[in-house]
Amino acid sequence: MAIETEHHPILSVIRERQSVREYADRDLPDEIIKDIIAAGIQAPSALGLQPWQFVVVRDRSLMRRISDYCKPILAEKIEEEPRNPGIDTFLAALRDPEYSIFYNAPVLVLVLGTREVVSSVIDCTLCAGSMLLAARALGLGSCWIGSATLAGQNPGLITALKVPDDSQIVAPLIFGYPAASLPPKPERREPRITWIP
Ligand SMILES: Cc1cc2nc3c(=O)[nH]c(=O)nc-3n(C[C@H](O)[C@H](O)[C@H](O)COP(=O)(O)O)c2cc1C
Repeated sequence: MAIETEHHPILSVIRERQSVREYADRDLPDEIIKDIIAAGIQAPSALGLQPWQFVVVRDRSLMRRISDYCKPILAEKIEEEPRNPGIDTFLAALRDPEYSIFYNAPVLVLVLGTREVVSSVIDCTLCAGSMLLAARALGLGSCWIGSATLAGQNPGLITALKVPDDSQIVAPLIFGYPAASLPPKPERREPRITWIP
């Protein structure tokens, strides 16, 4: 019997997930954030060590502080890159005082990895991937904000974010209700697959 993949619920969620960069001005209930984390921790981890912890940031002024710290560092890094229209637009956004690297999402969840566990970055990345999919399944928007990892260089922010000394920020993820309409999801290239035999 052929397996029906087109309308399989989990495959539809995987296909439909996309990064959301515009959010409704509406808070997320704590229960939903807990459900997303509960889905994340179902991910596999090497030796079953589960080397993750989570920091849930709903304090918008702290998110603004993180964004304001990261923006000039990002702009400096990006200025060294070869120029293209996309980079120019991003640079202009980073120089706009109103722009937030968190796109005004109501919640930021940091997935922290235990430093002494060799596989923790991989494990936490898998956990984060499941969280992004869970958000989509619940009708929410999400985006991995890699730029926010820079906060880990700032002792004041590390303290404000309560990141323990033995942990590092692996995945900064934002969640929220998406704004009314989303742009099309970026196209995927055809995968290069080698079949043996
Ligand atoms: C490790 C990582 C870091 C990312 N950092 C950012 C970021 O700082 N800001 C942002 O807007 N999107 C960020 N993204 C989202 C990617 O831009 C996005 O996944 C990619 O363009 C594909 O689009 P899609 O998620 O809509 O399919 C990041 C994604 C990953 C996996």
